[in-house]
Amino acid sequence: EKGGYPDFMLKEIYEQPRVVRDTLVGRLAPNGELDIDELGLSFEELNVIDRIYVIACGTSYHAGLIAKNLIESWARIPCEVEAASEFRYRDPIITPSTLVVAVSQSGETADTLAAIRDARIKGAKVFGITNVIGSPVARESDGVIYTKANKEIAVASTKSFIGQIVSLTLLALLLGQAKGRLTTGQVRMLFHELGDTSAQIQRIFDTQLDAIHEAACACQGAQSALFVGRGMGAAISYEGALKLKEVSYLHAEAYAAGEMKHGPIALIEPGFPVIAVTTKSPTYDKVVSNLKECEARGARIIALATEGDEDIKRIADHVIYIPPVRDAFSAITASVPLQLLAREVALMRGCNVDQPRNLAKSVTVE
Ligand code: F6R
Repeated sequence: EKGGYPDFMLKEIYEQPRVVRDTLVGRLAPNGELDIDELGLSFEELNVIDRIYVIACGTSYHAGLIAKNLIESWARIPCEVEAASEFRYRDPIITPSTLVVAVSQSGETADTLAAIRDARIKGAKVFGITNVIGSPVARESDGVIYTKANKEIAVASTKSFIGQIVSLTLLALLLGQAKGRLTTGQVRMLFHELGDTSAQIQRIFDTQLDAIHEAACACQGAQSALFVGRGMGAAISYEGALKLKEVSYLHAEAYAAGEMKHGPIALIEPGFPVIAVTTKSPTYDKVVSNLKECEARGARIIALATEGDEDIKRIADHVIYIPPVRDAFSAITASVPLQLLAREVALMRGCNVDQPRNLAKSVTVE
C-alpha cells in the first residue's frame, strides 16, 4: 500500500508532481478561458465580488495565506485569511458581494463547516476547496473545486496542501480575468508556468536530497528553530514551521523576516537554526540583510535559494536549491523541501512520521 516507500508521508510527498498535473487537467479551454464550471458563478457574478475571506485551519489556512497574495495582486479584491475558529465567533463584515472561500482537505473540519454555515446565513457566496468528493464542505458550499490529491493517509498534510495552492491559484486567475485585470494571454502564460511546477518539484527530488539531509542533521539536536521569509516566503515559513513541529516535536516558530528585530532576534545564540526562504523575489535583498543580523549572532543558517544563487553561500551554512520560478508560484516548489526536512528531522528523532502524537487526520469536533 505504501508502494515501496517506508512511510505514507514520503509516498505522498513524492506524489506531488502528479497532484499539480491532475489538478490542472482540463482547466484551460481551447479558447484560452479557464474552465472551472463547478464554481457555478458567471463572469458577471464574479465581477461583483468586492471582498473575499479565506477561512480554514492549520495547513489549509497556510494555503489561504498564499492565495491572498495572488488574489490581491491579480484581481485587486481585498482578501483576508482567517482561522475558521476565529471567523465563526466574531462578527465579520459580510454582504451579498462577499465571497467566502473555505479550504479543507477532509471537508469535515468542525470549525470550517460552522463558518461556512454562518457565512451563508449572512448572505455570502461560499466556494469550497476540498479533497474529499461529497464531503460536508462540498455539499454545503455554493460551488466547489476538488484538489486532485487522492486519499491522504499521513496525518501531516503534504500533497493536499499542494493541491490546495494550485486550486486557489486557478481561482485567483479566474477572478483576475473576470475583473478584467488579466488578459486571456496572461492567463494562458501563467497557467502554463503553473503547470511547469510539476517538473520543478521533480527536479528538487532529483537534485536536493543530500542538501536536505545535511540541513536536517543541522536541526535535529536543536531545542528550537526559526523559519523566516517575506511575502510568499513568510507564508512558506509558517507552513514549514508547522510541518516541523507536528512531525518532529521540535519547537519551531515562523516570522515575517522584517519582524525579527521586534523580538525574535533575542532568541538567536550560536548554533540556533534559522531556516530562511531566500528565493528570488522583490524582497530578496531585505531577507538577506535580516539574515546577516542572524549570522552576526552565530545563527546556523539554512537557506532555500534559487538555483544559480552562489552569493547566498556567503551567509548560509547550508543551501537547498529551488528551480527558478515566478514568485507567485514559489510556494509550490519551496514548500516541498521543507516537508522533506521535517520528515528527516522527525526520523532522526525517532518519531512516527505518519501518526504524530496527539493529532487526528480530521478534526470533526471543536
Ligand atoms: C497539518 C494538518 C492540519 C490540517 C487541519 C485542517 O499537517 O494536517 O493542520 O491542515 O486540521 O484540516 P482540513 O484541511 O481537513 O480542514
